[in-house]
Amino acid sequence: MEKILILDFGGQYNQLIARRVREQHVYAEILPYHSITPDKIVEAGYKGIIFTGGPNSVYEPDAPRCEEAILRLGIPVLGICYGAQLLAYLSGGHVSSAKNSSEYGKAVLKTERHPLFEGVSDESLCWMSHTDYISGIPAGFEVIARTENCPCAAMADDARRLYAVQFHPEVTHTEFGNRILNNFLFPICGCSGDWMMENYVSEIITEYSRKLRGKKVLLALSGGVDSSVAALLLHRAAGANLTCIFVDHGLLRKGEGDFVENTFRRELGVNLIRVNAQERFLKKLAGVADPETKRKIIGEEFIRVFEEEAKKLGKIEVLAQGTIYPDVIESGKGDSAVIKSHHNVGGLPSVIAFDEIAEPLRNLFKDEVRRIGILLGLRRELVNRQPFPGPGLAVRVIGEITKEKVRTLQEADAIFREEVDRCAPDARPDQYFAVLTDTRSVGVMGDARTYGAMIALRAVSTDDFMTAQWSRIPYEVLEKASSRITNEVPGISRVVYDISSKPPATVEWE
Ligand code: XMP
Repeated sequence: MEKILILDFGGQYNQLIARRVREQHVYAEILPYHSITPDKIVEAGYKGIIFTGGPNSVYEPDAPRCEEAILRLGIPVLGICYGAQLLAYLSGGHVSSAKNSSEYGKAVLKTERHPLFEGVSDESLCWMSHTDYISGIPAGFEVIARTENCPCAAMADDARRLYAVQFHPEVTHTEFGNRILNNFLFPICGCSGDWMMENYVSEIITEYSRKLRGKKVLLALSGGVDSSVAALLLHRAAGANLTCIFVDHGLLRKGEGDFVENTFRRELGVNLIRVNAQERFLKKLAGVADPETKRKIIGEEFIRVFEEEAKKLGKIEVLAQGTIYPDVIESGKGDSAVIKSHHNVGGLPSVIAFDEIAEPLRNLFKDEVRRIGILLGLRRELVNRQPFPGPGLAVRVIGEITKEKVRTLQEADAIFREEVDRCAPDARPDQYFAVLTDTRSVGVMGDARTYGAMIALRAVSTDDFMTAQWSRIPYEVLEKASSRITNEVPGISRVVYDISSKPPATVEWE
């Protein structure tokens, strides 16, 4: 199979590079920079090699470096950012530090005529993120692009098919980034672009069938997209040896517990244990109003329930997880620097003894996971679900949680989602839900005074959930949702719409 090797030097965007290559229907494999020898590269038949970015300076004593012989294999190499500087360094060039003038953000890229820039405007925007820069061009190379602050934004040695770009072609801010990668992959490396996601799915299944043969596998299934797709992939690979535990903590959306159970056990034939732990969670949460305490209680209780169920199954060899690439980055588990600690409930239940971890989605982005879900026959309804926090409705019932409050919120939330779902799919916000506030207000119903609870509706549009805009959903949708909620949900006398963006507000209220 035609493939590209991505040598990982610890940059933030490494998976993004792989994804951009995969989007052009060429398979890309990421390996740590020290894990492969030049001989093995030849043996594996890579059509091209990409050196990624990374946080180091090439002259640091422990800077990550690969063997110089890789540049002499005759296989085209593209160095990106740190990878570009390393390529210069290994080829006998010079790299300097511009400590007082780091280039960070968008810059105007001025390119020369060159096959790497075929179809790229002479001036375009690129994304820069560096302090060091190539100050001495190695013999055999010519500079093929510049920015105002960077005398060598790209260089090439056409005879040896070595290319280096200081900017990041993989990020969307680089206007012609995809075109530049395309020029590297096709005319330069000679790829044909016949790789499909279907191949990847069957490879994962084959790989895990081999790895998991004769082993008992356990997965915590939440019903979210990631764990659902992981469950299905592993079901194909391990069959009856896979057991999924679905902890129903009673804080799910209306009808969700039954939906997950029906989908996985009845429709897909997955070995599923549904633990009805609703009462147990409610008891633990009784009287607790502090948001962080509520989250903690749920996280701990989740692990306890999971552990108790797992113990009943006897020896488990493999613990599977639906970790996807952004989780790896966010929790700093990869080679990259830590961005923020991951806020998923529970995390790995370390109390359960197991020999291995299986994370079949570890290299994939959310939309790729969704595509795999569709390929595996998961219903679109499940694949396109909005994100749902691990602690569930506990962070959307403000203050103390009771069974009645949860039920009230489930009803109001179902109505709001139903009304928004009437909008065309591309007009829908990325996340929309109801919150049961702890405010009560006066109302009038018939001739009588009421003093009921207040529901807040929240809808946001976002690319990555790190920042989000409140959604301008049509007044008619809000009107219908408001009138249905006050009419159909007992105890609600007022509905408000949350018009705060993130930052300063978060998406969830707690
Ligand atoms: P915030 O409220 O931090 O939410 O702006 C950003 C996104 O993360 C979701 N969220 C969670 N997801 N476990 C999760 O898996 C959690 O504990 C959690 N808290 C928030 C939230 O729904 C939004 O999509």
